[in-house]
Amino acid sequence: MTPSDMRPIPHHFSAVAAGYNDLRTLDPEPVDLLVRSLVGLSVASMADVGCGTGRYMVELLRRLGHKPFVHFVDCNQDMLAQLRLDLDPLDLPGFDILHSPAERLPLPDGSLDCMLTFNAIHHFDLLGFFREAARTLRPGGLLFVYTRFPDQNERGIWGQYFPSFTAKEKRLYHEEHLIGAIGSARNLVVRELTHFSFGRAATLDHLVHRARNKHYSTFCFYEPDELERAIEGFEANLKETFGAFVTLEWEDENVMITVERV
Ligand SMILES: C[S@@+](CC[C@H](N)C(=O)[O-])C[C@H]1O[C@@H](n2cnc3c(N)ncnc32)[C@H](O)[C@@H]1O
Repeated sequence: MTPSDMRPIPHHFSAVAAGYNDLRTLDPEPVDLLVRSLVGLSVASMADVGCGTGRYMVELLRRLGHKPFVHFVDCNQDMLAQLRLDLDPLDLPGFDILHSPAERLPLPDGSLDCMLTFNAIHHFDLLGFFREAARTLRPGGLLFVYTRFPDQNERGIWGQYFPSFTAKEKRLYHEEHLIGAIGSARNLVVRELTHFSFGRAATLDHLVHRARNKHYSTFCFYEPDELERAIEGFEANLKETFGAFVTLEWEDENVMITVERV
């Protein structure tokens, strides 16, 4: 771990790196959208920015008919170390792993056909990142931003039942802000906004396990004893609403923004 990784959010990703893929749900639907969007296009070079352990890019490559060169980019060494452990180089003829901020990409101008960023944009400086996306994508290249808006966050099980969850999570970008930032970047145009809704089911124990293990970085904004009190409140809120159900069911929402470099 480097000194910069000791700040709360980098430290969080260092702490969760080894267990990250087990803690988080991988949604196949946004990957389906990517496969559909890329079919028939000439895609030789891609980047996954804020790739973490690389799980979405790996899933996409599994599903694409051909294997482009891939740049995995993240500012956290421990997430990238986990990616190195998980990757099977035989599945990937060409790739590199770049320890770099999203706002200063070590990639040449116009060198990418496609860029994705999944569950990460709320950590980035928007204008810096979009400037770099516009610089590194070739004209006609596509950027896919997968995220959730604050209102989507509020409607999920954590937003509705976990004490202070939405008040603590101040980083998510509102739709207008995100679309406005893309519009203000030179040469980027929003082509599509796709909303996703996922039916989820889990036991209360499993949800509590996820919160204690901070599957969302939002939980870093709780002091340790505050987090324990919030977990008790969460359990009480769920029992009051769902009664004695062993398995709880709810909907999670996300959005994909498809952007073209014109
Ligand atoms: C919630 S994780 C998502 C990881 C992966 N995209 C996924 O969906 O599984 C966010 C990732 O963004 C990275 N990150 C945060 N700020 C960053 C920045 N400014 N530049 C590059 N990576 C960043 C973190 O280190 C972390 O790995």
